[in-house]
Amino acid sequence: MVRIIEAQGALLDEAEKLIKKVFPWMDLSEQITFWAYRRRSKSFVCVLMRLCGVSSLSTIWVAVNDNGDVCGTTGFYTTPKDKTEASWLSWFCVDPKQRGLGIGKILLNFSIDKARESNKRFLRLYTSDDPNEAAAQGLYEKHGFKIIKKKKYISHTILYRELILSRRSLRQGLVFNTLYQNTYE
Ligand SMILES: CC(C)(COP(=O)(O)OP(=O)(O)OC[C@H]1O[C@@H](n2cnc3c(N)ncnc32)[C@H](O)[C@@H]1OP(=O)(O)O)[C@@H](O)C(=O)NCCC(=O)NCCS
Repeated sequence: MVRIIEAQGALLDEAEKLIKKVFPWMDLSEQITFWAYRRRSKSFVCVLMRLCGVSSLSTIWVAVNDNGDVCGTTGFYTTPKDKTEASWLSWFCVDPKQRGLGIGKILLNFSIDKARESNKRFLRLYTSDDPNEAAAQGLYEKHGFKIIKKKKYISHTILYRELILSRRSLRQGLVFNTLYQNTYE
């Protein structure tokens, strides 16, 4: 059983450690996320994040198991280009030692529900064809995230994916929310 809760204090520290372990190749704007997240109410941080292409950083969530260990993370941000219509998924990952137990699926369904609550039309994300992110592609496909753009680099390709948060899926989300609360909280 896992609970999904807002990352604060020691849980935020644990989330940062896990994310740095899972995504060691972060670019500069990704590397400053946690520094900025802890100071996100300050105006100079907002300006800095905007320079990095981020309009706002919303809550980072952690999946915590029965022992109180952080076993996965998820979060959102918005970008200046599409902030009225889309939330972007960030830092979606599960601790390598806890994979294959269904935690990724729980976290992704939770994230989709949270995105629906924000009344945006789309949930977008970027991922890559790196073998370390292969498991995520199947999960995204199954949940309806379509590839909308590809950017090729010498060593890898960045894949942009989008989920349409339609009214129909909102109703499904409400049903899922009920199941989710009964099962996992
Ligand atoms: C993607 C990730 C979050 C999945 O977490 P998880 O807890 O292992 O996932 P689950 O146990 O919920 O499994 C979800 C589905 O993925 C499938 N899956 C899990 N590992 C897989 C693998 N290595 N290859 C293919 N499919 C895999 C499962 O079979 C399951 O499918 P099902 O719905 O048919 O049962 C995890 O592998 C991870 O953190 N990867 C690295 C970080 C990453 O790539 N994040 C996304 C970057 S944008």
